[in-house]
Amino acid sequence: MAKISKSRAKRKTSAWFQRHANDPHVKRAQREGKRSRAAFKLTEILDEHGLNISPGSVVVDLGCAPGSWSVELARRVGPEGLVIGIDLLEVQPIPGVTLIRADFDSPEGQQALATALQGRDVDFVVSDMAPEMSGNKLVDQMRMIGLNEMTLHFARHYLRPGGALLMKTFMGEGYDAFRRELGKSFSRIKNIKPAASRKTSAEFFLLGLEFRGNAR
Ligand SMILES: C[S@@+](CC[C@H](N)C(=O)[O-])C[C@H]1O[C@@H](n2cnc3c(N)ncnc32)[C@H](O)[C@@H]1O
Repeated sequence: MAKISKSRAKRKTSAWFQRHANDPHVKRAQREGKRSRAAFKLTEILDEHGLNISPGSVVVDLGCAPGSWSVELARRVGPEGLVIGIDLLEVQPIPGVTLIRADFDSPEGQQALATALQGRDVDFVVSDMAPEMSGNKLVDQMRMIGLNEMTLHFARHYLRPGGALLMKTFMGEGYDAFRRELGKSFSRIKNIKPAASRKTSAEFFLLGLEFRGNAR
């Protein structure tokens, strides 16, 4: 296994903090009291791609910590709607959001989501999940595609026909096959790199529109 010297690791960490402190989206998030800069990725995607989340909608937010997407989603669905957020990490309470602390990719996580949904169909599934980076590009890529596959499986089971799915992914091994699979369930698919996503980051988002319906 490749070893990174302590001093190189230290340099990398301090470079990350430097970039983070100077990031205009981080500064804006602090100014506007957002829980994280990720908030701007979601609002940009929703607003620029015509995703009208109407009051009363049911939305599931996968990998929701620290909660900036859930805050925005709860605002859009209103008191009649339902937002369910799940994360491995604890999230400070958000009014109007049902929070689950669990691994999405575990029977416990799946059961907790099913219980929170109480049989309601979902209008929109969003996922900002990414695996913990191992430093090995291929391993991280395969883990990312694994999370994408789980997310698609979940969406196929719970989305209402016509619903939408948004998920973070990385370009690389397994991506093309995954996108083809996504195409079987959604009439339209968009690849989106929001302005608030760092240019140096491999992440981008896949948006599936007009879910064709599930096999339930
Ligand atoms: C970029 S953060 C999400 C930021 C969030 N969208 C926001 O606006 O605050 C990605 C999250 O995905 C979570 N995550 C990754 N894998 C997960 C899994 N298998 N189950 C649940 N959460 C997971 C991580 O714990 C992390 O908090």
